[in-house]
Amino acid sequence: MSTTDGGPWWRSAVIYQVYPRSFADGNGDGVGDIGGIRTHLGHLRELGVDAIWMSPWYPSPMADGGYDVADFRDIDPVFGTLAEAETLIEEAHAAGIRMIVDIVPNHISSEHPWFKAALADPAAPERELFWFRPGRGENGDQMPTDWRGEFDGTTWTRTPDGAWYLHLFTPEQPDLNWDHPAVRAEFESILRFWFDRGVDGIRIDSAALLLKDPTLPEVVADTPHPFQDLDGVHDVYRAWRRVSDSYAGDRALIGEVWMPEVERFANYLRPDELHAAFNFDLLGCAWDPTLMRESIDRTLHAHAAVGAPATWVLSNHDVTRHVTRYGREDTTFSFHNNLDGTPVDLELGTRRARAAALLSLSLPGATYIYQGEELGLWENEAIPEDQHQDPMWARRGHGRDGCRVPLPWSGDEPPFAFSTATPWLPQPPDWKGLTAQAQSGDPSSMLSLYRSAIALRRDELGLHDSAMAWIDLHPQVLAYCRGAAFACVLNLSDAPVALPDHESLLLASGPLDGDRIPPDTAVWLRMR
Ligand code: NOJ
Repeated sequence: MSTTDGGPWWRSAVIYQVYPRSFADGNGDGVGDIGGIRTHLGHLRELGVDAIWMSPWYPSPMADGGYDVADFRDIDPVFGTLAEAETLIEEAHAAGIRMIVDIVPNHISSEHPWFKAALADPAAPERELFWFRPGRGENGDQMPTDWRGEFDGTTWTRTPDGAWYLHLFTPEQPDLNWDHPAVRAEFESILRFWFDRGVDGIRIDSAALLLKDPTLPEVVADTPHPFQDLDGVHDVYRAWRRVSDSYAGDRALIGEVWMPEVERFANYLRPDELHAAFNFDLLGCAWDPTLMRESIDRTLHAHAAVGAPATWVLSNHDVTRHVTRYGREDTTFSFHNNLDGTPVDLELGTRRARAAALLSLSLPGATYIYQGEELGLWENEAIPEDQHQDPMWARRGHGRDGCRVPLPWSGDEPPFAFSTATPWLPQPPDWKGLTAQAQSGDPSSMLSLYRSAIALRRDELGLHDSAMAWIDLHPQVLAYCRGAAFACVLNLSDAPVALPDHESLLLASGPLDGDRIPPDTAVWLRMR
């Protein structure tokens, strides 16, 4: 398992996110599983990725797509067994692919034995593991706080005995009390459980939310937030770092940290805390040369300050697929600005997504690919109301199902060999040209572009160190060198621009116009 820059793998890896419900179904029940992943490991090997990040595969009532975990030391029967998971880890390693598992420490499922015990008896010691509080008002029938949840819902649910418990997400996801030593000990033990099984990294869900201000103040602008990014959370990650450091072989901790202030974000990446964190700044950014350059600079600067590698993410299982985003008039993404249903030019979005792939695969740091991104899938915005599964749908009127639709592998119509049964979410019939099989032999396909780009990334010496320097070609062109002889040029203007002086063209995201780069097109060049 080689690394591109000679440093630890997580500094420069290409990491592929598998959302197991939607990758491939091996047992014909319409839901993806480990058997399906094992069958298609060859796809990931040919793509050339360095690691798989596996979204939660643990026993779960699936109130939030598996991010409501009932047992962190087992596998949900819908996905397979623990033995199969162990086999997959071995097979991935044999194919040169590392494994990252997803740990959800902020909350657990209401079906977890701890919460069931806490609910069953107000005097149970397990109550202390959560945030149970009396309600406000004479009868205690008002919520203890007016906090709004991460899905925009309320954050407290009343139990039959009259107490309320806190849940920043759905009521089926009670928040854990990270001030309690048993919670800390349990999660360190869970990390060891998976490290002992050979996993190479841990993705940490909602990493900045764990600690709460126990005095439960309201959220007031310009005062410390009661549940986001409390200073004490860093002690948790220092302890986790001691655990990961105690294992041989560069085990990595990768945080999901949504945080607008880059300095606070970078705090999570200090040398004794997490190895890396998802950078969502570019993901939310408009398709605009000035804003994108600022975002890249901001990101690199913040990471350099703490010596951490940057990460680049265009899509994941929570956000609108970027082919769709980049095909809209408003190309930004924010959970608070729902653009679902606004007109989309898929041809434009696809052209930009191809260019964005060359950008994200040539910036310094690690790059994440969300399953289906390599096929150029777009958001399915036509899921019938009654088939929506995401709990966000009910609370916000829009949801994340459209980016979670099962992958099309082959064939001319749904289920496109994803399954032999009806998939758990409907696939657009128009995906028939986007199946992995249809794209495999086509040198102009998105899949071929990703395969070529990842292979070149591995071989190009310029991409192996962390240096990057902007080249000022044109105000609406992003151009930069990596090392002495590699450059990426992305034309964000609305007219073709001349290729700069170069030795050879390594890769282009679309057809060139003679020696000019058309709008929304990127090239990789070997420089003289
Ligand atoms: C972030 C995950 O990516 C998302 O899917 C989930 O709903 C929340 N955290 C809560 O676990």
